[in-house]
Amino acid sequence: MVRVIRATQQEIDSAVQALRDGELVAFPTETVYGLGANAADPAAVRRIFEAKGRPESHPVIVHLDSPRYLHRWVNDVPSAAQQLAERFWPGPLTLIMPKGANVHEIVTGGQDTIAIRVPSHPMAQQLLTAFGGGIAAPSANRYGRLSPTRPEHVRDELGDSVKVVLDGGECQIGIESTIVSCIGEVPRLLRPGAVTLTQLKTVLPDLTDAAASDAPRVPGDQRVHYAPLSPLAIVASDEIDSRAEALSAGGHRIAVLAQRLPMHTYRFVTWINAGRRPDAYAHDLYANLRTLDTAGCAQILVQDVPADERWAAIRDRLARAAAGSVDPASISGEYRILP
Ligand code: TXA
Ligand code: MG
Repeated sequence: MVRVIRATQQEIDSAVQALRDGELVAFPTETVYGLGANAADPAAVRRIFEAKGRPESHPVIVHLDSPRYLHRWVNDVPSAAQQLAERFWPGPLTLIMPKGANVHEIVTGGQDTIAIRVPSHPMAQQLLTAFGGGIAAPSANRYGRLSPTRPEHVRDELGDSVKVVLDGGECQIGIESTIVSCIGEVPRLLRPGAVTLTQLKTVLPDLTDAAASDAPRVPGDQRVHYAPLSPLAIVASDEIDSRAEALSAGGHRIAVLAQRLPMHTYRFVTWINAGRRPDAYAHDLYANLRTLDTAGCAQILVQDVPADERWAAIRDRLARAAAGSVDPASISGEYRILP
């Protein structure tokens, strides 16, 4: 594993200059790489949407180095947000709050709320502190593609539209932040991530799991988000070998993402053993899916992951990937195991 923790002063200076010039800067966070622009510069934020090919109605997260500038972006920090921030920031948690009066609508997708995150990655912290303001940043991928967890993913996908890519090696967590809405009476979990429901409930026992329901929670949160190039299906653990074997015997090239080694060697099967530890599995998930997706296979089979909470965020991302690869009319939005 490659972990580069800090950038040189020269790298930070050129990234800050690019942000001030209205250019885009990709930077590592502990979750995934972000595609950043000066959040106070609407023209710069608009470039993010152009570079990603993302509709402008989808709001972006504003990143801060600490809660000290919250008042610039948020109108009346809800007490639930205050408590979660004290416990989990800096870290992989994004909070939805009422937006401040001066926040431009390109940042919020025209909504009256704003998403804020204080990342813990030292390089993100260096950049945010040197810049001294908010950096609007979605994940640094083309719209509808996998989030990048390595700098080469960003360069491959976004190329010249990004002025500076800060190289922090591999992201430690590997999947996007937990999102909690602190709007309304009861705080709601909107997107599962490394901060778990149980951890959130230790601070706010009433918090509800809106991520468990099927309704779209926010713009840009449609179930079909990542659409793999090869169809992806989730397969029960005890059937993964037989499925792979049967398909490869039929002459198909098959990719498998499993939590163990195969029982036998199969001729046309690319098999990745991602292991049984949820943190290691999450760390490699997007890089593994990228590898399998570009292996030119007729089908990607993913071994069903355990139902316990430590796998909740992984299940969520796999369900989205599976949903992206079937006929949209038949999508239930559920984590479904292939019948
Ligand atoms: O880990 C992460 O969260 C990464 C890193 C770069 O911080 N960022 C990330 O951004 O995943 P993005 O844009 O790919 O996902 C942000 C999600 C989107 O689904 C968006 O709709 C939601 O946050 N969001 C942003 N602003 C919102 C708001 N005001 N209300 C509800 N949801 C919001
Ligand atoms: Mg994204």
